[in-house]
Amino acid sequence: MDPKPKPMMFLTVLCLITISSIVVTVEAEYVRPLPRKTLHFPWSRKASSYPQQVHISLAGDNHMRITWTTDDKFAPSVVEYGTSPGRYLSVNQGESTSYDYLFYSSGKIHHTVIGPLEPNTVYFYRCGGQGPGFQFKTPPAQFPITFAVAGDLGQTGWTKSTLDHIDLCKYDLHLLPGDLSYADYVQGKWDTFGELVQPLASARPWMVTQGNHEKEYIPLIKDGFQSYNARWKMPYEESGSSSNLYYSFEVARIHVIMLGSYTDYDKYSDQYTWLKADLLKVDRKKTPWLVVLFHVPWYNSNRAHHGEGDHMMATMEPLLHAASVDIMLAGHVHAYERTKRVNNGISDPCGAVHITIGDGGNREGLAHNYLNPQPEWSEFREASFGHGELRMVNSTHAFWSWHRNDDDEPVRSDQVWITSLASSGCVAEKRHELRKILLAP
Ligand SMILES: [Fe+2]
Repeated sequence: MDPKPKPMMFLTVLCLITISSIVVTVEAEYVRPLPRKTLHFPWSRKASSYPQQVHISLAGDNHMRITWTTDDKFAPSVVEYGTSPGRYLSVNQGESTSYDYLFYSSGKIHHTVIGPLEPNTVYFYRCGGQGPGFQFKTPPAQFPITFAVAGDLGQTGWTKSTLDHIDLCKYDLHLLPGDLSYADYVQGKWDTFGELVQPLASARPWMVTQGNHEKEYIPLIKDGFQSYNARWKMPYEESGSSSNLYYSFEVARIHVIMLGSYTDYDKYSDQYTWLKADLLKVDRKKTPWLVVLFHVPWYNSNRAHHGEGDHMMATMEPLLHAASVDIMLAGHVHAYERTKRVNNGISDPCGAVHITIGDGGNREGLAHNYLNPQPEWSEFREASFGHGELRMVNSTHAFWSWHRNDDDEPVRSDQVWITSLASSGCVAEKRHELRKILLAP
């Protein structure tokens, strides 16, 4: 994982030091590789009940949802599992769904919740009573825990490179801030995406939220998010939400909120009402870290999608600031950017660190054009493909690093220690302000 010198690489590091305000901004640039082509997935003949596109996600305390697809509409939605290879001592029955989209009919999509499971434990499992055995590791119940983070994945050569690099790091859970398959109405691409990510997504929980590429809305013909909701069911019911487009979960003493940039978020919306109810349940003694994900970034100094998150930010930032959110992760912009702690457009020691990480590797390529001068709140920005790793070391400290896909090697290009707002006094300071907002009608 250590950076290796690249003699051919043109690397400039621009440091602008404003002595009076002691503000240091860093911008790294290097000669970037071109977009890579969409991967070709050769058709292979399998039995119709063979489990395909296996992926897992957290489903409430100590439970895991196993999702897979079969061509056979009569295949059972059962998962056998246990802690020894091939010895499946437990079995759970799940549910299934399917959908039609224009001329496409999906396979049978199975969702089976298993548990209760032990933390930090390897489980072996089999889907539908046949096919290969899989294994996953449950996340730890305590610190430390590591999240892999990459949004806007798609299914190109760069996506494969990003996934390979994530596979190299020891992580417990994948956080994906929207834009998964880039199927864009071509439903078969949801299937190939499911196959592409299966090696990773069947082994560690993937917790996702939606991006614009999940919409697939056709006026008067198709509501949005049909495929996304059918295939990537998240624990929304388990977290008291009425929509798969926003939910929350707790893992290893971290409360994670997944918001929807593409569903209503005004103060009278279901999402906003649910968010207030969810925040009311958060106990920072139990979960000292509060992390939020959504697709469209609020702090973005790239020309791409600049200002698109302003409305959602105007509605939700006061609430999330009062709630002392530590870190907000977004995608959408195909580049990487990390801010200082910020609120209401300026640095604020009790604000959130915003990270845009929509650089997973999709076919649309990178967003190269930045606004200049670099805003005061923007600490690091670079248009390269890559992924992030967020290691929550303990209740007070987390280590964030961003790994650029440089010539197919993950190069750690940005890193920072983040101190929790619970430990810095901000949570206590804003406690009354938060309750006032949460209890307001
Ligand atoms: Fe997007």
